[in-house]
Amino acid sequence: MKKNYNFKMKNWIYIEDISQYVEQEVIIKGWVYNKRDSGRVKFIILRDGTGILQAMIWSKDPDFHLFKIFNELTQESSLVVKGKVKKDDRAPGGFELEISDINTVQIAEEYPISKKDHGVAFLMENRHLWLRSTKQVAILRIRAAIIKAIRDFMDGQGFILTDPPILTANAAEGTTTLFETSYFDEKAYLSQSGQLYAEATALALGKVYTFGPTFRAEKSKTRRHLIEFWMMEPEWAYAELDDAIQLAQDLLVYVVEKTLETRMPELEILERDIKPLNKIKSPFPRITYDEAFNILKKSGKSQTPYGEDLGATDETIISEQFEKPVVITHYPASIKSFYMQPDKEDPEKALCMDIIAPEGYGELVGGSQRVHDYELLMRRIETHKLSPEVFKWYLDLRRFGSVPHSGFGLGLERTVAWICHLTHIRESIPFPRMLYNLYP
Ligand code: 4AD
Ligand code: MG
Repeated sequence: MKKNYNFKMKNWIYIEDISQYVEQEVIIKGWVYNKRDSGRVKFIILRDGTGILQAMIWSKDPDFHLFKIFNELTQESSLVVKGKVKKDDRAPGGFELEISDINTVQIAEEYPISKKDHGVAFLMENRHLWLRSTKQVAILRIRAAIIKAIRDFMDGQGFILTDPPILTANAAEGTTTLFETSYFDEKAYLSQSGQLYAEATALALGKVYTFGPTFRAEKSKTRRHLIEFWMMEPEWAYAELDDAIQLAQDLLVYVVEKTLETRMPELEILERDIKPLNKIKSPFPRITYDEAFNILKKSGKSQTPYGEDLGATDETIISEQFEKPVVITHYPASIKSFYMQPDKEDPEKALCMDIIAPEGYGELVGGSQRVHDYELLMRRIETHKLSPEVFKWYLDLRRFGSVPHSGFGLGLERTVAWICHLTHIRESIPFPRMLYNLYP
């Protein structure tokens, strides 16, 4: 797409487009990332959100008026600079700006985040400023590219985006992690998943997906959990478990491929080793819960009893056996959600799948085939002690043209953390909501 907001007439350009303007006079509007004084030559390291550019002021005259402005500039001061673009292999990024004029917009107060190492608590407290650092900018640019790749893929496969409500009357993923709020005279909950609503829109539109924030009041403090996280959830009428697995696999391959294609400079800033990412190709290995359990038993490193859900360390032990994401299917139905279809061959097992990321990033995708039989779903709702009343509309879907259908949820932040190789999920979203952490 042509960029209409490159104000060529006004000469205002963005650093990411600098290579098109060599030897031209341009204007860059940004902030002081850093500065360096080498006597007659002074350098301002500029940032404008799209990149970093070395800008240079040179004069034989020690009283040169731009030197005075240079001296006043503090870290993060906002400014508009004018200058000529030079190709210079010594400059970071390969280009440099020879400054001819500077307009200071605001001189920043002493910036709390300096180049020295800060503790995580301090950085989190200053998240609104921390976002400006090169690494954080790179992560957010990759996050946006991942969102675009996910949407492009789903749209390209003919899935229609349908937006579910955030305020709901029912639980989707168990009642222990619900955020309760009041809805006039009723109780309401923040959505844990858009799935149940997507099941309704899938029966209207055939192939749909939802993409938005979801909430879990989980009192767990791990590198993988957020209280508010984004999920992309396809729901596909007439699809069976295998179809959903294939879709999830092709989606992940596409997302990794597109990120490598469009965000290499950012991955380099993060020093991401891309060799493991280059291996993310179809098909992914598939194992059942029972096979996963045998891997754990053989490893001697897991305490998880057979029949229980796999923990974070279990997932890491299993993922270490493979270079690609691994699909685990057929978990015991008793530990999984009420809406999962039991396997015909072995009704103790659910037609479900989790996809575990390589490199220890845990579960990226959770999905299943859904119960499409009214009686069975009713029994499930009762055994899970859920109210048939609030699920009346959901049960209706099994009364009017019910069909087998399947879907899954892809956790956006888990995906971002994995592709960026972050040590903690908190950096994968601009303002992470975590246990006891609501500011800023
Ligand atoms: O496995 P989950 O709980 O599945 C569902 O919510 C289904 N309703 C999805 C569906 O079938 N439509 O969550 C799906 C994914 C997980 O695999 C994980 O990537 C992410 O959502 N996720 C979280 N990400 C960050 N913080 C948390 N607390 C998360 N909980 C789940
Ligand atoms: Mg799950």
